[in-house]
Amino acid sequence: MAKNTNSRKVRITDTTLRDAHQSLWATRMRTDDILAIAEKIDSAGYYSLECWGGATFDVCMRFLRENPWERLRRIKAVCRRTPLQMLLRGQNILGYKHYPDDVVDRFVALACENGMDIFRVFDALNDPRNLETAIRAVKKYGGHAQGTISYTTSPVHTVESYVALAREQAAMGIDSLAIKDMAGILTPGAARELVGALVKALPDMPIQVHSHMTSGMAAAMYMAAVEAGAGCVDTAISTLSSFSSQPPCESVMTILESEGFDTGLDRAVLGEINAYFMDLKKKRQPASSARVEAVDAGVLVHAIPGGMISNLRSQLAQQGALDRLDDVLAELPRTRADMGYPPLVTPTSQIVGVQSVLNVLSGRRYSMVTDETRHYAAGYYGRTPAPIDRKLRKKLMGDLKPIDCRPADLLKPGLSAAADEIPAKLIQAEEDILSYCLFPEVALDFFKWRAKPEGERDPIPADLEMQKAEAEKAAAPALDEQTAKFASIGRAFASLMAACGGTGDLNGLNGTNGVNGLNGADVQEAGESKKEPEDQIPAGEPVLAPLNGTFYRSAGPGKPELAADGATVKAGEPCCIVEAMKLFNPIKAPVAGKITFLVKHGTVVVKGQTLAVVA
Ligand code: CO
Repeated sequence: MAKNTNSRKVRITDTTLRDAHQSLWATRMRTDDILAIAEKIDSAGYYSLECWGGATFDVCMRFLRENPWERLRRIKAVCRRTPLQMLLRGQNILGYKHYPDDVVDRFVALACENGMDIFRVFDALNDPRNLETAIRAVKKYGGHAQGTISYTTSPVHTVESYVALAREQAAMGIDSLAIKDMAGILTPGAARELVGALVKALPDMPIQVHSHMTSGMAAAMYMAAVEAGAGCVDTAISTLSSFSSQPPCESVMTILESEGFDTGLDRAVLGEINAYFMDLKKKRQPASSARVEAVDAGVLVHAIPGGMISNLRSQLAQQGALDRLDDVLAELPRTRADMGYPPLVTPTSQIVGVQSVLNVLSGRRYSMVTDETRHYAAGYYGRTPAPIDRKLRKKLMGDLKPIDCRPADLLKPGLSAAADEIPAKLIQAEEDILSYCLFPEVALDFFKWRAKPEGERDPIPADLEMQKAEAEKAAAPALDEQTAKFASIGRAFASLMAACGGTGDLNGLNGTNGVNGLNGADVQEAGESKKEPEDQIPAGEPVLAPLNGTFYRSAGPGKPELAADGATVKAGEPCCIVEAMKLFNPIKAPVAGKITFLVKHGTVVVKGQTLAVVA
C-alpha cells in the first residue's frame, strides 16, 4: 500500500468475493462462480482481493457443501498477481466465541500455507488482548498483519482513544491499519479528523478505510479519508456494491481520478468483470435482498445498521411480536449504553440486539438474560469500552465470577481434543480439524455428506433454497410490498431451519448465519410443533418455554446434558436450554425435585409450552 503522505497514488481493495456478496447475496457465491472470473479480477490492478473469512467459511460448508480451504487454494492457483486478503475476528477466528491460542495459531498457519497474504484482524470490543495471538501468528507465518479499529460512536470513543488503540497495535507489529466502519456511520468530517490524527501519530503506518453504503455516505467519506492521508479504500464492483455493501469501484475510481489520484485500475477490465456479475446476479441474489432499500437514512439518525434492523425484525417475527419493532429500536441504544457502548459488529451486535428484544418482550428489563450476555458482562468477550454499572453487572453475571485476564488465557489447548472427537474416517486433511474447531456441527455434517458417494449425497441446501424460492415465486403472484417483505423473511427462516436444523436469517448483520444451529437435531418448523395434550403432562411444577425457539438438553454436541431425565434438580438450577434468536437461554428449574422431560432434544417449541415438569 502506498504511504499515506504526499502520495498521489491510492490503491483499492476489491471486496466483491467476500463482504459484498456477504452483504447482498447472503454469502451464496460459489467457488465455481469465483473461478470463472478470478483471472480477470487478478488483472484489474487491485491492491488486494478480499475473498475469504467473515461468513464465507461457515456458509461454504453449511449451505454450499464446499470445502472453504479448497476455495482458497483454487483462487490462489489463479490469482498470482494480486495479494489475497481475509477478515479474521482475532481470537474468535471466524466463529462467535474465543478459541484457544493453539487453534488460532494453527488456523493462521494453514491459511498462510494455502495462499492467504493479508489478514485484517479485528475485535468487536477493540480489546487489543483479543488481537495479539492472531497478529503474532500472522507475522510468524509470513503474512501481512493489518490491525483494525472497529469504528463506532459513543461518549467514550474519541479520536484520542482510537489513536491510543492504533499505537497499541503498532507496538504489536502490524503492517498496516484498517478503519472498519461496518455500520456506515463514519462521516467525511469525522474521517478527516480521525485519519489526520492517525497519520500524525503514526506517520509510517499505511491506513486503509473500509465502509458500507448503508447510509449513503461512504463514497464521500472515502474522499475525505484519502485527502487526509489514507492510502487504500475498499470497494466492490458496481453490481455487487451500494445498499449494505461497499461503494462502487468504478465510481470511487472516477472520484479519486478527478482529484488527481491514480488508482492503477484498468477501467475496461472493470467493465468486463461487472458484466459477468450482472449475469450472475440473476442466479445468486436471494429474493429477500432484492427488496432492501438503496439508502437507509435511518442510520444517520439512530446509527443502527440496516442489516441489524432486518435481524431484529425477523427475530420479532419469530416471536410473533413484529408490532414491537419501534420499542426495540428505542430500547437498543439504552441496552448498548448499559453494556458499555460496544461497537455493533459480530458478535456484540447479536448479544446487544437479542438482549434488547428480551428487554422489550419480557416487560421488565434484564429479567431475562442470555448466556451470552452473562458471559459478556463477566468479561469473557474482553474489556467493555466503558465499564458496566456495578449493580447491573452483578445482576447480568448471575452466578458467574468476573474475570480480568485475557479471556483466552482461561482456555485449554483445543486441537488434539478436537482431533479425537472427529471419526478418523471423516478426516481428509489437517485443515478439517480446524474447520471442526470453528463450526463443529456444521463441519461434521459436511464431512459426512462429503464421505458419501456422489450419487447418494443429499441435495445441496443452497440449491434447495433456490428451488423453493422459484416455486414460491410461481405460486404467490400478488402480495403487497410489506406483506412480501415479511413473507420473504419468514420463508428465509423456514428454509434455513429446514436446511440447517437451527435458526438462521438471510439478512444477518455481516451475514452471520445460524450461530447455534445444531445439525442433525430433530427440527420441526415453528408453528407445526406439537404441544403435549394436557392430560398427558405428569403432575408437578411445569418448566415453561419463555420464548419461541428450539429446545436443547445440552449446550452442544459432546456437551453434557444440563440435567438427566429423572434427576433431582435444585430450584433455580439451569436444567435445559431454549435457543431463540441465535442465542442460548438457560431455563431454570422452578422448584426443587425430580425432573421429567416432555420434549425431545432439538425440537422447535412455542412460548408457554411445557418442556418438563419438576415433582
Ligand atoms: Co464490512
